Amino acid sequence: MKKTVRDVEVEGKRVLVRVDFNVPLTEGRVADDTRIRAALPTINYLLQHGAKVILMSHLGRPKGKVVDELRLDPVAERLSELVDRPVRKLDDCVGPEVEAAVARMQPGDVFLLENTRFHPEEKSNAPAFAEKLASLADVFVNDAFGAAHRAHASVVGVAEYLPSVAGFLMEKEIAFLGQALAAPEHPFVAILGGAKISSKIGVIDNLLTRVDGLLIGGGMANTFLKAQGHEIGQSLVEDDSLDVAREMLERAGERLVLPVDVVIADRFDAEADSKVMPVDQVPDDWLILDIGPETVELFKRKLAGARTVVWNGPLGVFEFPRFAEGTFAIARFLADLEATTIIGGGDVVAAVGQAGVADRIDHVSTGGGASLEFLEGKPLPGIAALEDK
Ligand code: 3PG
Repeated sequence: MKKTVRDVEVEGKRVLVRVDFNVPLTEGRVADDTRIRAALPTINYLLQHGAKVILMSHLGRPKGKVVDELRLDPVAERLSELVDRPVRKLDDCVGPEVEAAVARMQPGDVFLLENTRFHPEEKSNAPAFAEKLASLADVFVNDAFGAAHRAHASVVGVAEYLPSVAGFLMEKEIAFLGQALAAPEHPFVAILGGAKISSKIGVIDNLLTRVDGLLIGGGMANTFLKAQGHEIGQSLVEDDSLDVAREMLERAGERLVLPVDVVIADRFDAEADSKVMPVDQVPDDWLILDIGPETVELFKRKLAGARTVVWNGPLGVFEFPRFAEGTFAIARFLADLEATTIIGGGDVVAAVGQAGVADRIDHVSTGGGASLEFLEGKPLPGIAALEDK
């Protein structure tokens, strides 16, 4: 158990909060504020308890240089609407001007430092840079679950210099994902999708030691189907992973459930011609873009009665409406299921949002890569760096 903001004195203190405000921007405005909203419980708690709140985040991958389009001003603007008070955006995250501004802070003030990745020392976790960040505050709170798999200065380095605790979002992510892995209520069924099996081998490996069922869809199912000897036409496949797929099929036995029918397309296009086919009848020049209706029913039967469900990765190309039904149907089914339901990974989170059922899922993780690494069973450096209770 990690210490949280509840375990430290914050009144009148300068509290440095690492958040994951790596949000999509469109035309200089925040296009999706989910991650900003997710940090509000911690920010509001600190404000109610009289702290001086100094927020820091990365945005995009500016590679150690200032990139004007990746400044955090639009984020500060949106945050200020959400907390209903001014949020002062500083133009750097370290240096004399930042220090001077912070020195004048009053309890109840909210500052947002500039994108930490404008400095190459963020990614290299340079101690001198981490120390400068830490020198701005009395306490460090990490609420950036989405960045917890990055051993960067603002995630891990600062924890060397300050009392370091988890924020409420971090606490909630660890509670849901940790419980699912460590002590899930059974039956425990996992659903995995997304394009590639190669990026999920670690997750499958770890989940197979814990789950009662593993349902696989999306592009990664194609590699399994091919490994079983099916012709999959022009579908996305990873030939390098066929042996791994065979091994996993053998190890999982009946627990691993693959599509029995698929929606195929004559080209990769939203307007492509489409039809439903059994998996053993995919024509040579067509490609699989979604699971079929029989597979949806099969997956529902496997999910009925489950007490814990974890889902990562969409089951088809849901960005094209014609190939979204598999993913959406399973999302709707989970929304009504009497089980602890947990979803993670940016794509499937977006899909569940589009299906209109995100608020009926117990836990929608804000972590993409972080939730995958967590499910692999890897210790995340950003969590490891925080103090234990
Ligand atoms: C994410 O969007 O998954 C996190 O913010 C981490 O971003 P990164 O992959 O650029 O480190």
